[in-house]
Amino acid sequence: MIIAIDGPAGSGKSTTARLVAKNLGFIYVDTGAMYRAVTLSWLEQGKPNIADFIQDLPSITLGINAHTNEQQTFLNGIDVSKEIRGREVTEHVSYISSLKTVREKMVEMQRNIGNAQSVVMDGRDIGTAVFPKAHLKVFMVADIRERALRRLQEMKIQSMFPLPKLEDLMITMKQRDEYDSSREIDPLRQADDAILLDTSNLTIEDQALKIIELANSIHNF
Ligand code: DC
Repeated sequence: MIIAIDGPAGSGKSTTARLVAKNLGFIYVDTGAMYRAVTLSWLEQGKPNIADFIQDLPSITLGINAHTNEQQTFLNGIDVSKEIRGREVTEHVSYISSLKTVREKMVEMQRNIGNAQSVVMDGRDIGTAVFPKAHLKVFMVADIRERALRRLQEMKIQSMFPLPKLEDLMITMKQRDEYDSSREIDPLRQADDAILLDTSNLTIEDQALKIIELANSIHNF
Protein backbone atom coordinates (compact mmCIF):
# COMPACT_ATOMS: atom_id res chain seq x y z
CA MET A 1 0.00 0.00 0.00
CA ILE A 2 1.22 3.47 -0.83
CA ILE A 3 0.17 6.51 1.17
CA ALA A 4 1.26 9.77 -0.45
CA ILE A 5 1.45 12.86 1.72
CA ASP A 6 2.22 16.13 -0.03
CA GLY A 7 2.12 19.75 0.99
CA PRO A 8 4.16 22.89 1.55
CA ALA A 9 7.04 23.27 4.01
CA GLY A 10 6.06 23.01 7.67
CA SER A 11 2.56 21.68 7.07
CA GLY A 12 3.31 18.82 9.45
CA LYS A 13 3.90 16.19 6.76
CA SER A 14 6.98 14.51 8.10
CA THR A 15 5.98 14.24 11.76
CA THR A 16 2.54 12.99 10.79
CA ALA A 17 3.81 10.61 8.13
CA ARG A 18 6.29 9.13 10.60
CA LEU A 19 3.52 8.45 13.14
CA VAL A 20 1.20 6.97 10.51
CA ALA A 21 3.95 4.67 9.25
CA LYS A 22 4.78 3.52 12.77
CA ASN A 23 1.14 2.80 13.53
CA LEU A 24 0.53 0.85 10.31
CA GLY A 25 3.91 -0.90 10.31
CA PHE A 26 4.91 0.73 7.01
CA ILE A 27 8.23 2.27 6.01
CA TYR A 28 8.35 6.06 6.19
CA VAL A 29 10.14 7.78 3.31
CA ASP A 30 11.07 11.46 3.54
CA THR A 31 11.74 12.40 -0.10
CA GLY A 32 12.72 15.98 0.76
CA ALA A 33 15.80 14.51 2.47
CA MET A 34 16.93 13.05 -0.86
CA TYR A 35 16.78 16.43 -2.62
CA ARG A 36 18.51 17.98 0.38
CA ALA A 37 21.37 15.45 0.11
CA VAL A 38 21.90 16.29 -3.59
CA THR A 39 21.92 19.98 -2.64
CA LEU A 40 24.46 19.35 0.12
CA SER A 41 26.70 17.62 -2.39
CA TRP A 42 26.49 20.60 -4.78
CA LEU A 43 27.39 22.97 -1.93
CA GLU A 44 30.26 20.75 -0.74
CA GLN A 45 31.66 20.74 -4.25
CA GLY A 46 31.71 24.55 -4.16
CA LYS A 47 28.55 25.17 -6.27
CA PRO A 48 29.96 23.93 -9.58
CA ASN A 49 28.38 24.74 -12.92
CA ILE A 50 25.02 22.93 -13.06
CA ALA A 51 25.70 21.31 -16.43
CA ASP A 52 28.83 19.69 -14.96
CA PHE A 53 27.15 18.78 -11.69
CA ILE A 54 24.27 16.88 -13.25
CA GLN A 55 26.66 14.88 -15.45
CA ASP A 56 27.87 13.06 -12.38
CA LEU A 57 25.20 13.13 -9.68
CA PRO A 58 26.20 11.79 -6.25
CA SER A 59 24.93 8.50 -4.90
CA ILE A 60 22.08 8.98 -2.44
CA THR A 61 20.88 6.05 -0.37
CA LEU A 62 18.44 5.72 2.50
CA GLY A 63 18.59 3.56 5.59
CA ILE A 64 16.86 3.20 8.93
CA ASN A 65 18.57 3.87 12.23
CA ALA A 66 18.18 0.67 14.25
CA HIS A 67 17.95 2.56 17.56
CA THR A 68 15.68 5.49 16.73
CA ASN A 69 13.86 3.96 13.74
CA GLU A 70 14.44 7.28 11.93
CA GLN A 71 15.33 7.55 8.26
CA GLN A 72 19.04 7.95 7.62
CA THR A 73 20.21 9.70 4.48
CA PHE A 74 23.58 8.80 2.98
CA LEU A 75 25.56 10.86 0.50
CA ASN A 76 28.21 8.75 -1.22
CA GLY A 77 27.98 6.33 1.69
CA ILE A 78 28.31 8.95 4.45
CA ASP A 79 25.45 9.62 6.87
CA VAL A 80 24.43 13.26 6.30
CA SER A 81 21.06 13.13 8.08
CA LYS A 82 22.02 16.10 10.28
CA GLU A 83 23.93 18.16 7.70
CA ILE A 84 21.02 18.22 5.25
CA ARG A 85 18.94 20.25 7.73
CA GLY A 86 21.39 23.17 7.65
CA ARG A 87 20.38 26.66 6.60
CA GLU A 88 22.45 26.77 3.41
CA VAL A 89 20.93 23.53 2.16
CA THR A 90 17.43 24.84 2.91
CA GLU A 91 18.21 28.03 0.97
CA HIS A 92 19.31 26.19 -2.18
CA VAL A 93 17.21 23.02 -2.19
CA SER A 94 14.31 24.47 -4.18
CA TYR A 95 16.68 25.36 -6.99
CA ILE A 96 18.50 22.01 -7.09
CA SER A 97 15.23 20.07 -6.85
CA SER A 98 13.84 21.92 -9.87
CA LEU A 99 16.46 20.32 -12.16
CA LYS A 100 15.09 17.67 -14.51
CA THR A 101 18.01 15.23 -14.21
CA VAL A 102 17.95 15.45 -10.42
CA ARG A 103 14.20 14.80 -10.29
CA GLU A 104 14.39 11.87 -12.71
CA LYS A 105 17.01 10.14 -10.59
CA MET A 106 15.20 10.75 -7.28
CA VAL A 107 11.77 9.72 -8.63
CA GLU A 108 13.22 6.46 -9.96
CA MET A 109 14.63 5.69 -6.51
CA GLN A 110 11.36 6.60 -4.81
CA ARG A 111 9.38 4.32 -7.13
CA ASN A 112 11.77 1.45 -6.47
CA ILE A 113 11.33 1.86 -2.72
CA GLY A 114 7.53 2.12 -2.93
CA ASN A 115 7.21 -0.82 -5.29
CA ALA A 116 9.07 -3.08 -2.86
CA GLN A 117 7.04 -2.50 0.33
CA SER A 118 4.20 -0.58 1.92
CA VAL A 119 5.23 3.02 2.47
CA VAL A 120 4.11 6.37 3.73
CA MET A 121 5.99 8.77 1.48
CA ASP A 122 6.02 12.51 1.97
CA GLY A 123 7.08 15.22 -0.44
CA ARG A 124 5.69 17.66 -2.98
CA ASP A 125 4.83 15.51 -6.00
CA ILE A 126 4.25 12.03 -4.58
CA GLY A 127 0.51 11.94 -5.37
CA THR A 128 0.83 13.76 -8.70
CA ALA A 129 4.00 12.35 -10.26
CA VAL A 130 5.79 9.65 -8.27
CA PHE A 131 2.77 7.50 -7.43
CA PRO A 132 -0.26 8.90 -9.28
CA LYS A 133 -2.04 5.66 -8.43
CA ALA A 134 -1.26 5.74 -4.70
CA HIS A 135 -3.99 4.08 -2.61
CA LEU A 136 -4.37 7.14 -0.44
CA LYS A 137 -3.33 10.71 -1.16
CA VAL A 138 -3.37 13.46 1.41
CA PHE A 139 -2.49 17.09 0.75
CA MET A 140 -1.62 18.86 3.99
CA VAL A 141 -1.84 22.61 4.40
CA ALA A 142 -1.67 25.04 7.33
CA ASP A 143 -1.54 28.79 7.59
CA ILE A 144 1.88 30.32 7.10
CA ARG A 145 2.25 31.72 10.63
CA GLU A 146 1.49 28.34 12.17
CA ARG A 147 3.92 26.64 9.79
CA ALA A 148 6.70 29.08 10.65
CA LEU A 149 6.04 28.63 14.37
CA ARG A 150 6.34 24.87 13.96
CA ARG A 151 9.59 25.22 12.02
CA LEU A 152 11.01 27.48 14.74
CA GLN A 153 10.11 24.88 17.33
CA GLU A 154 11.85 22.21 15.26
CA MET A 155 14.94 24.41 14.93
CA LYS A 156 15.01 24.86 18.72
CA ILE A 157 14.86 21.12 19.26
CA GLN A 158 17.68 20.63 16.75
CA SER A 159 19.70 23.43 18.42
CA MET A 160 19.91 25.36 15.15
CA PHE A 161 20.98 28.64 16.75
CA PRO A 162 20.77 31.56 16.18
CA LEU A 163 17.06 31.24 15.43
CA PRO A 164 15.63 33.47 12.70
CA LYS A 165 12.86 35.98 13.44
CA LEU A 166 9.36 34.59 12.93
CA GLU A 167 8.56 37.20 10.26
CA ASP A 168 11.78 36.45 8.33
CA LEU A 169 11.08 32.74 8.49
CA MET A 170 7.55 33.31 7.17
CA ILE A 171 9.00 35.20 4.19
CA THR A 172 11.60 32.54 3.31
CA MET A 173 9.10 29.69 3.71
CA LYS A 174 6.65 31.50 1.45
CA GLN A 175 9.37 32.04 -1.15
CA ARG A 176 10.31 28.37 -1.10
CA ASP A 177 6.65 27.33 -1.50
CA GLU A 178 6.23 29.72 -4.42
CA TYR A 179 9.35 28.39 -6.09
CA ASP A 180 8.29 24.76 -5.50
CA SER A 181 4.76 25.49 -6.78
CA SER A 182 5.80 27.33 -9.91
CA ARG A 183 8.64 25.13 -11.19
CA GLU A 184 8.14 23.54 -14.57
CA ILE A 185 8.58 19.89 -13.65
CA ASP A 186 6.20 18.26 -11.17
CA PRO A 187 5.47 21.33 -9.07
CA LEU A 188 3.92 21.25 -5.62
CA ARG A 189 0.24 20.75 -6.35
CA GLN A 190 -2.73 18.95 -4.84
CA ALA A 191 -3.65 15.90 -6.90
CA ASP A 192 -7.28 15.95 -8.08
CA ASP A 193 -8.05 12.88 -5.99
CA ALA A 194 -6.09 13.92 -2.88
CA ILE A 195 -7.84 14.61 0.41
CA LEU A 196 -7.16 18.12 1.67
CA LEU A 197 -6.18 18.25 5.33
CA ASP A 198 -5.84 21.68 6.95
CA THR A 199 -3.67 21.14 10.02
CA SER A 200 -3.66 24.75 11.30
CA ASN A 201 -5.71 23.80 14.36
CA LEU A 202 -4.90 20.11 14.65
CA THR A 203 -2.40 18.35 16.87
CA ILE A 204 0.06 15.93 15.31
CA GLU A 205 -1.85 13.06 16.94
CA ASP A 206 -5.14 14.27 15.41
CA GLN A 207 -3.55 14.57 11.98
CA ALA A 208 -2.07 11.10 12.20
CA LEU A 209 -5.33 9.62 13.44
CA LYS A 210 -7.27 11.07 10.52
CA ILE A 211 -4.87 9.52 8.01
CA ILE A 212 -4.81 6.18 9.83
CA GLU A 213 -8.62 6.10 9.77
CA LEU A 214 -8.60 6.88 6.05
CA ALA A 215 -6.04 4.14 5.44
CA ASN A 216 -8.05 1.62 7.45
CA SER A 217 -11.18 2.47 5.47
CA ILE A 218 -9.51 1.37 2.25
CA HIS A 219 -10.14 -2.32 1.88
CA ASN A 220 -9.17 -3.01 -1.68
CA PHE A 221 -5.39 -2.92 -1.40
O1 DC B 1 10.28 18.57 2.76
P1 DC B 1 11.57 19.37 2.71
O2 DC B 1 11.42 20.78 3.22
O3 DC B 1 12.71 18.67 3.38
O4 DC B 1 11.93 19.46 1.13
C1 DC B 1 13.03 20.18 0.68
C2 DC B 1 12.82 20.63 -0.75
O5 DC B 1 12.89 19.52 -1.63
C3 DC B 1 11.52 21.33 -1.07
O6 DC B 1 11.65 22.74 -0.92
C4 DC B 1 11.24 20.96 -2.49
C5 DC B 1 12.01 19.68 -2.71
N1 DC B 1 11.15 18.49 -2.81
C6 DC B 1 10.64 18.21 -4.04
O7 DC B 1 10.83 18.97 -4.99
N2 DC B 1 9.92 17.07 -4.22
C7 DC B 1 9.70 16.25 -3.21
N3 DC B 1 8.99 15.12 -3.43
C8 DC B 1 10.19 16.54 -1.93
C9 DC B 1 10.91 17.70 -1.75
